[in-house]
Amino acid sequence: MPELEPRSAAKPQNWLWTCRHTFEPTLVAELAIRGVRAHPVLPGLVQGQVMTADVRQALAELDAVYALQVLPEAQLLRGGSIQQLALQVVEQVQPLLIPGQIDGIDGPVAHLPGPSWGLHGLVPAQLKGNPQPPMQRRVTLIAQAVTERLRQTARIVLKQKVKSGRPQLLVQMLLTEPEALWLSIAPVLPLPPQQAWPCAYPAGLADVADDDLAPASSFRKLHEALACMGVTPQPGDSAVDLGACPGGWTRVLRQYGARVVAVDRSPLAAHLLADPQVEFKAGDAFAWRPAQSVQWLVSDIVAFPERIVELIAAWCGQSLCSNLVVQMKFKGEPNWPCLNAALAIARQHGYFARAKHFFNDKNEVTLMACRGGDGG
Ligand SMILES: C[S@@+](CC[C@H](N)C(=O)[O-])C[C@H]1O[C@@H](n2cnc3c(N)ncnc32)[C@H](O)[C@@H]1O
Repeated sequence: MPELEPRSAAKPQNWLWTCRHTFEPTLVAELAIRGVRAHPVLPGLVQGQVMTADVRQALAELDAVYALQVLPEAQLLRGGSIQQLALQVVEQVQPLLIPGQIDGIDGPVAHLPGPSWGLHGLVPAQLKGNPQPPMQRRVTLIAQAVTERLRQTARIVLKQKVKSGRPQLLVQMLLTEPEALWLSIAPVLPLPPQQAWPCAYPAGLADVADDDLAPASSFRKLHEALACMGVTPQPGDSAVDLGACPGGWTRVLRQYGARVVAVDRSPLAAHLLADPQVEFKAGDAFAWRPAQSVQWLVSDIVAFPERIVELIAAWCGQSLCSNLVVQMKFKGEPNWPCLNAALAIARQHGYFARAKHFFNDKNEVTLMACRGGDGG
């Protein structure tokens, strides 16, 4: 008899990661540190081979800082028409979505609910921030055709489909050419406080609205971080903004209704200084501490990474905030020792900590942490 292959045998699979275009080499280098040989395939897209029998474990291990999104176990489908591509997607997806049955030997039959699932249609130019990328219409039509076919063949699974938030299973379709579609079907790792990996946003890109009154374009970075965390400041929350001038981040915190203490050597924009819910403190942001723990610490200070490690150690060490969003800026290559030290220190003090390089980040990364993993 031929030897049976063990069910858990790991086979190399194609994984794709998206990133801010021009940061492909940085992501490739990071994946190499994590043991994956990868290469850039398109602007904002990196491909590598992953050998694993456990997708969830690999997802946790390959939550790369420079990856905005991950498409695990992606397979390349080819089809001459929208319907041909949609049919292949349905053939792969449908068996995974159908609710299960456990036969009761003497008693009634029990039903297992099918997983909640999400469907993302992606195209390459989207990864470069193009708001009207070519082939967007085609991938949208494929997504519609998938839904329509499921309506005909397995209507029940449409009830489990979610438009936003964290589904249990994420189906991602990346159309790289009109007749070539990468399909990834993967479990979603729920991470605290409300994060998900793969990311809940298509291509890992949160939709950040323009704000003509923002005193600096950096407001986009904080919006991306909050969208990634899945939690936002609540009205009346206390927040501290270190290195706040001219006030892009302070304005975001105020838009959510938080009371803000803004610390900088230079003053804020006049309309923020006039806001009674904003208290401006002129001085050294590294030396400033709140009298009581606050809900949010945010910091966009331009400083050496070592100083940001000290800042995280001081604030997390004394539990001075429930949630934090802190930028770590680099000159040249990412400073991995400092970034890893900052994450480790936050974790040692009971915070769930993660870092991402967002679409609006320059040569910097965003550290996000929440106390006790509950975001509260
Ligand atoms: C990139 S800007 C912050 C932009 C701000 N997040 C916004 O959206 O408007 C960095 C700020 O950090 C401030 N800064 C740098 N070192 C500081 C320190 N030791 N104490 C206080 N402010 C500092 C600078 O004055 C500068 O205003």
